[in-house]
Amino acid sequence: MKEIALLPENLIRMPSVNLVNDWYMRSFQEIIEFEKTDITPKTLEYFCNSLVKIRNRHTDVVETMAQGVLELKESHDVDYHTENSIQYFLDRFYMSRISIRMLINQHTLLFGGTLENAPGPKGNKYIGCIDPQCDIVSVIKDAYENARFLCDQYYLDSPALIINESSHHDLEPEHGIKIVYVPSHLYHMLFELFKNSMRAVMEYHACVDKYPPITVTVSKGKEDICLKMSDKGGGLPRSTMEHLFKYMYSTAPQPSKADAHTVPLAGYGYGLPISRLYARYFHGDIVLLTCEGDGTDAVIYMKI
Ligand SMILES: Nc1ncnc2c1ncn2[C@@H]1O[C@H](COP(=O)(O)OP(=O)(O)OP(=O)(O)O)[C@@H](O)[C@H]1O
Ligand SMILES: [Mg+2]
Repeated sequence: MKEIALLPENLIRMPSVNLVNDWYMRSFQEIIEFEKTDITPKTLEYFCNSLVKIRNRHTDVVETMAQGVLELKESHDVDYHTENSIQYFLDRFYMSRISIRMLINQHTLLFGGTLENAPGPKGNKYIGCIDPQCDIVSVIKDAYENARFLCDQYYLDSPALIINESSHHDLEPEHGIKIVYVPSHLYHMLFELFKNSMRAVMEYHACVDKYPPITVTVSKGKEDICLKMSDKGGGLPRSTMEHLFKYMYSTAPQPSKADAHTVPLAGYGYGLPISRLYARYFHGDIVLLTCEGDGTDAVIYMKI
């Protein structure tokens, strides 16, 4: 909240930013109430309920904040310095949001009672929202299928998927590489990368009826697990590389407000920067390497 107060004057005045600020203020007031209460089963229950209420209140923070920044960009000439400080602020703001939501989820799952020790989708035991045996390939397939569904809607077709697995030669060869991770975070990153690769492939090969597949290589080393997604979507000019992780940078037409109920394949320019925050949250990273005229490799690094 202190950082919101340091935002450029004209951004704080935007109605959407005001709304977000109000949500934070209310939630802070609600949570601070618990500072001096005695810990009893009753207060713990109230605490859990408050957390759930706060989580729901903040569901649309990313979209609402994005709306505020968009309004500012449309109404003013945003200079280079302002743009940089907004980028710096949003990175910290969304990172803190990822972190708070992770803690809220963890607390409500472990102490909320309903899902305690419930087995995950594959029968493994989750610890809150952490899967100690997260099966990377099945998350890849899941993200691919859902991105493909959107791609089929827009382009009436979609590229196929090839998955390769390999591990460092000193390690046991492993099939179905596993990691301790929050599956929903991994899903988010993969879904965004798939949407980008699919759009690039479909646009670049618009005149042919056969689309080159997207290849995902999962590799396990001694320190990292890497996921490399390679597409033949024609890549990007090198001059655009520095903009890729900027909020609002997109080459897609902005989705119209009339389509608000459908999920767009691209258009807000939030896919890459937010995905990179998810990766960095657990000390990993996302990097893109692109060859114009050929295609793009996007690598998700995850610490073991
Ligand atoms: N694999 C890729 N091949 C070619 N261009 C890409 C690729 N991935 C990203 N890009 C370029 O980077 C831009 C930013 O990507 P990003 O995912 O952040 O936003 P977006 O896809 O435009 O919108 P959304 O917020 O819906 O994801 C894209 O508009 C596109 O021009
Ligand atoms: Mg995208």
